[in-house]
Formats: sequence, structure tokens, C-alpha cells
Amino acid sequence: MNSTIRVQSFETLTVTTLAIALFADNDPLVAQLDQHTGGRFGRLWNEEPERDKVGRLFRYAGLPGLACDRLWVVSLGEQSRFTPSRWAKAAQSVAAAFAEGPTGAAAHTLALVAVEGLTDADKLRLLGRWFREATYRYDATLSKSTKENSGKRGCDPLIHLVERDSADLAAALAAGEAVGESVLLARRLGDLPANLCTPEFLAKTAQELAEQHHLHATILNKKAIEKLGMEALLAVAAGAKHPPRFILLEYHGSGAPKEERRPIALVGKGITFDTGGICLKPSAQLDEMKYDMCGAAAVLGVIDAAARLSLPIDLVAAIPATENMPSGEATRPGDVVTTLSGKTVEILNTDAEGRLILCDALTYVQREYRLSAIVDIATLTGAIVIALGKEATGLMGNNDTLIAELQQAGERAHDRAWPLPLWEEYQDLLKSRFADLANIASERGAGSITGAAFLSRFIEPGIPWAHLDIAGTAWKGGDQKGATGRPIPLLVEWLRQRAGSTSSP
Ligand code: BES
Ligand code: ZN
Ligand code: MN
Repeated sequence: MNSTIRVQSFETLTVTTLAIALFADNDPLVAQLDQHTGGRFGRLWNEEPERDKVGRLFRYAGLPGLACDRLWVVSLGEQSRFTPSRWAKAAQSVAAAFAEGPTGAAAHTLALVAVEGLTDADKLRLLGRWFREATYRYDATLSKSTKENSGKRGCDPLIHLVERDSADLAAALAAGEAVGESVLLARRLGDLPANLCTPEFLAKTAQELAEQHHLHATILNKKAIEKLGMEALLAVAAGAKHPPRFILLEYHGSGAPKEERRPIALVGKGITFDTGGICLKPSAQLDEMKYDMCGAAAVLGVIDAAARLSLPIDLVAAIPATENMPSGEATRPGDVVTTLSGKTVEILNTDAEGRLILCDALTYVQREYRLSAIVDIATLTGAIVIALGKEATGLMGNNDTLIAELQQAGERAHDRAWPLPLWEEYQDLLKSRFADLANIASERGAGSITGAAFLSRFIEPGIPWAHLDIAGTAWKGGDQKGATGRPIPLLVEWLRQRAGSTSSP
């Protein structure tokens, strides 16, 4: 898909499809359309009973007086109830319809809509991303004939109509498309089944990214992980046939000499399949546990986007990757391991495995780098789905500034996160008689917080750290089943803001 920005009046555009965004009530564009169509459009539009449904598409063909073959109208709902989220919904609806493939050139007017808090560049950045994301199609494991019959054609070229063109707008559009591309990478990885998306496959993907963008990659195999003493990661890997990997990628964008670099660490949970281990999960929807590596996929997506955008920052991506399988060699409930930090952990529940692989990765990055901040991204708890559903990522951490930055970035990127408290009192729940701490809480309740509380025990004092629990947002169930690529947009927006400011939390 080849997309451009153009300043032109929509009536004169010779495209096959023109999508116009309209408010349900008294939109002045209706009069403008009526002038060209001799009143035909207004009569049709005013008869549409569902024209106040945000994101609904109405398709018209053969209207006189317009240069386009087909006119599509997307509803923005009622003017008085308009919000940036409603604009997003309308834009994504047009993007989805365009991806389904009207042939030839297509144009839309979504960038012309005034949206509170968004500059023209902000709008183009979002539109670039959504139109790219909408072209996603999973075909990795479809046979050739199936692949050929199910296809998204996508329109070509795609024209974003604006009031005034500028180099900034073109750059914003390209940046949005680049982030969209990174989101697609994460979605492909998330959707790939666990017999193919193994720890080794994640490592290979990281290596390919490193080659593509000249990143520095380090892949530790099982032997190297043993030598380091990451017993918590190894405890989760104990029952698996596919051996674990510890994956590191470095992106140097700041240009600073090595001694002066203060990178941000992104740590992603890479459980390629979570059976629960000996604490076996029930079988309903168990296939969805292939998505338990979406934190890892997001981390790869963010570093990919940072490199595509040449962000002037330094990043370290760290991914502990393993399956969590039951077997005669698997870790038992009650087993105690010594983590890389030296702290001992009693593994009371083998299904609370995310925190075990993450704690060793967190220790590793703090030892090896002088970090300015750490963000971990994990499908950590089912409890976050109960708390926040599929709308918001759970956000916790040890630094209010960092938490506020991430929340605001999520808002701006339409990829929202919402904070939960992480008070010291919650730590009492992780006490163990047989180790320094247990991997699950001694009581029911606050499951997402106690997961974060466990991780916080592996953060050195003074380092700003945040934890994003994406168990609810990283994928969708139902007939739209699939990975979402969240929270890549949030994180890229956060990094963009950090790159543009000197203050750090
Ligand atoms: N990968 C799961 C979390 C999860 C659950 C993600 C549902 C997506 C949907 C995680 O490893 C897990 O099993 N967590 C347990 C923790 C519990 C044993 C303390 C959970 O949420 O039940
Ligand atoms: Zn898990
Ligand atoms: Mn689990």
C-alpha cells in the first residue's frame, strides 16, 4: 500500500473510493455534498436511521457531480458527544474497510476532522498506524490454496486529505506507518502457534532484527543460562522439550559513548506456551496460552520501531523465553530455587511462572547496564482481565513520574493503561517459611498487584521501574481472535516523548 498526503477538495478527486467522515447531525459538509449532487446525497443521508452509530459505514455509488466512483460515509456520531476515542473508532472502521479491498485509488477525510488535543501531525501519525495495522492478515500456517483465496488486497494508492501539507505531516505519516509495521511483527509472532514459535524461534527473530537494523544481539542458550545461575528461569524450563533462551538486543540511538549511555531496559515475558506446569491449567481455551509470549513480542516490536524511527535513545531489550510444561522433570510445588539475585523463592504454584522468568531477567539487566529506567511487559495475571477487561493495560511501578508518563503516552497513542497501587503492605502476602519469598500470595485477592509486588523485590533501590500487565490487552478472543500488538504504540509514544525531553523520572 502506497500512501500519500494531498491537499485537494474531495469533490474533484478522481478515486475509485472516497470515504468521508460526517457527524450525524447538521454536518456542514452535507450541504457541500448537496451542491454537487443536486440534493441527492442529503436526501439519502437523512434517511439513514443508523447514521448516529459511530464507525458505521454507509456506501453509495453512482452519485452525480462527484469525481469518485463510490462514496463511503463513516459516522462520527453526534457532534455534542464527540471524543478522540470516537474519531479513532471511525478511522479504524474506514481502515478495516479499505483493507478489505476496494481496488484502485482511495481517499479519506479523517485527517480533516478537528479532534481535541491532536495536531495534524498527531492525526497523521495515528492514521498511518491504523491503516497499516488494518492490512494484517495471518497466513503463516495456511496452505497455499487457502492463502490465495483469502486475501486482503488493500487499496492503492491511499490518499489522506489534509488542509495544509508540510514535510512534518509526511514524516508523521511515515512514522505512524513504521509503528504499524512493528505492531504487525508482534501480531504475527503472537498468533504463531507454540509448535513453531519456540524460544529458539524468538531468538532467531531477534537475530534477524539485529541484522536488519544493526543492533547488538546476545543469545544465551540453556548451558549459558545454567552457568549464569538463573535458577528461576531454569525452574520454569525444567519440564520443557524446547530448551530456553535468554535473548538480549541493544539499540544505540543516542550517539553517546559507551560509558555515558544510560539505556532504558524493556523486559518482555516470553512464555511460548503456558500449560501451568504441574499446576496444570484447565483445558478450556488453553490454546490461547500461546499468547503468553506477547510481552516478548512487544519488546521486539518496540526495538524494531525505535530503529525504524531512529529515535535518539538507548534501549536494551531482554527476553527470557521458555515453555511452561508438565513432565517428570518439571518443577514441583514447594520446590525452592535460588534466583540470579541470590534471593531464594519457594515455588508454591508452577502456574505463576511469568514472575519467575522475569525476576532473573530483571536482575541480569540491572547488573549488566547502568539503566535510566526499566519497563517490563508481561501477560502476567488473569486477575488483570477481571480488573480492567480488554480496554486497559495494568500499570504498576515504583515511580509516580514514570507511571504518569506511561499513562499519558497510552492516552495519546490510543493504547491505554491504568494504574493500580503497589503499596508496601502487599509485600506481606508473599512471605514464605521456607524461602526469602513465595511466588504466589498467601491469600486470594489483588492477584495482579501481588504479581507486581513479587517483581518489585528484584528492583534495586533508586531505579525507576514500571510493570505493564497485558494479559487483557495483548490479544482478543472470539471470532476476531488474535494478537493485538499492544502495548507497542504506548511504549513507542513514551520513548518518542522521552527522546524529545531531557527530564527523566
Ligand atoms: N499466563 C498466565 C496469565 C494469564 C491468564 C494470561 C489468563 C492471560 C489470560 C500466568 O502465567 C498465570 O497463569 N497466572 C496465574 C497466577 C496465579 C497462579 C497466581 C493466574 O493469573 O491465574
Ligand atoms: Zn503465563
Ligand atoms: Mn501461568
